[in-house]
Amino acid sequence: MMLERKQRFNVPEIRSRMEQVSAELGTETFHGAQIVQYAELEQVYSGAMREISTKLENLDDEFQLRDRHNPIHHMECRLKSIGSTIGKLRKRGLPLSVESIRENLFDIAGIRVICNYEQDVYKVADTLSEQSDIEVIRVKDYIANPKPNGYRSLHVIYSVPVFLTDGPHPTPVEVQFRTIAMDYWASLEHRLRYKNDMEDADKERHIATLRDCAKELSRIESTMQSIHNEIGEAE
Ligand code: GTP
Ligand code: MG
Repeated sequence: MMLERKQRFNVPEIRSRMEQVSAELGTETFHGAQIVQYAELEQVYSGAMREISTKLENLDDEFQLRDRHNPIHHMECRLKSIGSTIGKLRKRGLPLSVESIRENLFDIAGIRVICNYEQDVYKVADTLSEQSDIEVIRVKDYIANPKPNGYRSLHVIYSVPVFLTDGPHPTPVEVQFRTIAMDYWASLEHRLRYKNDMEDADKERHIATLRDCAKELSRIESTMQSIHNEIGEAE
């Protein structure tokens, strides 16, 4: 039996996504040779995402064998959509070119690493950051310094080489490390943020409640972390 493999990066498909975005946003997108360059960009960024996620899976396996505990609960990977990418270039007043994306946007490839405990977040992030073939470009620690709305996560932008026929292409990947509780909070806050058919007063009230929830969740997480650590020591 022959299995038909779908071509993952396909120029006609990217061209039709471009046309769709252009109609939706009412803006210029990429044309001609730029579409091919965009397909190449997606291919390289997707390779970078795979390099980092493989590194994370290997670390998780090692920790599991060594400590009998998987620090990573699960991971989510995504390539930024054409619409969000073009929207972001426009919002920042940046030139509309593949070159400009490469130079200015560091979150085209994104990985969310959801860990069980806060200690796991730092253990995994620190171990990954020490690897000699990747480089840390930027760190934003919203766990040590939560955002005023209560958002917590550790954001690290890594540069990882993707080896193609012409040699290495250093490529940025944004990794958001967070715990299950931080992720659960962020999902609800994200839904609220984009809920436009709600009275302003109700929205404000929910925003304030979420701020309190973030503090409570942080307290509950450190209590649960202590129990987890004591169970570990007793084993
Ligand atoms: P942008 O990528 O343009 O947002 O700027 P930045 O890279 O400086 O932002 P930052 O690193 O602070 O956050 C980037 C990503 O983190 C966002 O795209 C979200 O996925 C997530 N994030 C940041 N702040 C919040 C927040 O307040 N609530 C939620 N739910 N997610 C957030
Ligand atoms: Mg970003």
